[in-house]
This record gives sequence, C-alpha cells and structure tokens, in this order.
Amino acid sequence: MITAKNLTKRFGKIVALDNVTLEIPEGVNLILGPNGGGKSTFFKLSAGVYRPTSGRIRLFGKDPWKDTRVKVRIGVAYDPVSFPPLISGREWLEFIARSKGYGEEEVERVGKLFGLDFLDEQTRNYSSGMLKKLAVAQAFIGSPELIMIDEPLANLDFESMQNFVKLLKREKDEKSFLIISHIWEPLMPLVDRVYVIASGRLILSGEKNDVRDEVERLFKLRLDV
Ligand SMILES: Nc1ncnc2c1ncn2[C@@H]1O[C@H](COP(=O)(O)OP(=O)(O)O)[C@@H](O)[C@H]1O
Ligand SMILES: [Mg+2]
Repeated sequence: MITAKNLTKRFGKIVALDNVTLEIPEGVNLILGPNGGGKSTFFKLSAGVYRPTSGRIRLFGKDPWKDTRVKVRIGVAYDPVSFPPLISGREWLEFIARSKGYGEEEVERVGKLFGLDFLDEQTRNYSSGMLKKLAVAQAFIGSPELIMIDEPLANLDFESMQNFVKLLKREKDEKSFLIISHIWEPLMPLVDRVYVIASGRLILSGEKNDVRDEVERLFKLRLDV
C-alpha cells in the first residue's frame, strides 16, 4: 500500500526522516519509536501532507503529494488533533464526508460506530479525549481501504481504549491500518507488522512474531528501576 525509497525530509537543519526505505503491505501495521524520531513526519509524507526533500513515497502506487485523488482511498487522523473551534463535531465530519462524496448518513453511521454523543457541541468545548475520538472517527468516514491514525489511544480513558481495540478487532479483516501508538501493548494481539523509527531512521521492521522480543526489550515499561 505504501512504499518509501530513500525517503528523506528536512525542516531547515533538522533531518526529520533520513533515507528511509520500507514497504507497508495490507494488514495492521504499527509504527513505534521515541518522541521526535520522525514517525509523524513519515505518516504525513505517506498522506501527501508533506513533500519529500528527496527520495520517493508511493501510496497505492501514486505520488500522494501530486496525485491527490489517491487520498479518497485513505482515512487519516493526525496527532496532535486540531479542529476549527467554532463548528460542531457533526459539521466537521460532514465536511470530511462531503469531500469524499458522502452525505449526512455517513456521519450518522460513524457517529454510531464510535458512540459519539457530543457531535452537536462546538469542538472548543471538547475535552482532549473527545477531540481524540472525533479525530479517529474522521478517519473512518467513507469506509476507506486504509485507515491511518497517529496516536489513537492518547488521552482516552480505559473504557474508550477498550472500545477502540474492539473496533479494530471487528474492522481489521475488512480494512488495512497504519497506526502510530506509544500505547502499543493492547494493540499487539491485533497487529501484523511493526516498524520502529528513531532519529529519522528505520531501525527495526518485521512481522510481529519475528520482532516481538526486540520490541519488548525496547519499549516495555519497566518500573522496577
Ligand atoms: N512541520 C515541522 N517543522 C519543523 N520541524 C518539524 C516539523 N515536523 C516535525 N519536525 C521535527 O522533525 C523531527 C521529527 O518529528 P516527528 O516526525 O513529529 O516525530 P515523532 O512523531 O516520532 O515524535 C523533530 O525534531 C521535530 O521537531
Ligand atoms: Mg508524532
């Protein structure tokens, strides 16, 4: 679905992504790595939000920066979230739905899927958890074949995290996912592949069963220090 070849992104002197080559096939794909490592930069290059400094990124075989039509095949939730403050969540989701050729009934469907009971309030009144739920819901509008979510579990309470994991379990055979998440352990049973991006480089990637030990060594919280 996504291929990167020698992909590099600089912001002035900062090298956010440094010569990354990888392939992301169908299934549930998880990106891990430390803060500032380049995960969200890779994610935005894949979604066509950033233009590569050098190298190549392809989304379903197309250049997502130039061929914007390919974007109807993905649903994206960015992190940190950001919404216009004076519109309601429903108006925002309707805007996303219309841009993909869908109407109010699609917003209704996704609202039910996530149990969003606050869609008629303005987003400036939302808690950080509500904002995150709205962002994640946005990615499901139009049933895209690839759903990309940067930090789906951030700011969620325990029950909402469980609901997301259950939803992923239900949806994962129908769709593919690209997820960045620091909270990775509850997702692990559903994940097919893991990629670790640190200091702008791809330092580990592979099928879950092949990299699980290394992932645990790198990212399992140890509180007996
Ligand atoms: N739009 C931007 N402008 C300038 N610097 C950026 C921008 N986006 C990311 N960076 C920098 O690039 C590096 C990688 O950031 P990012 O991809 O957000 O990391 P991660 O998502 O892994 O935490 C960081 O040093 C960050 O400050
Ligand atoms: Mg990030």
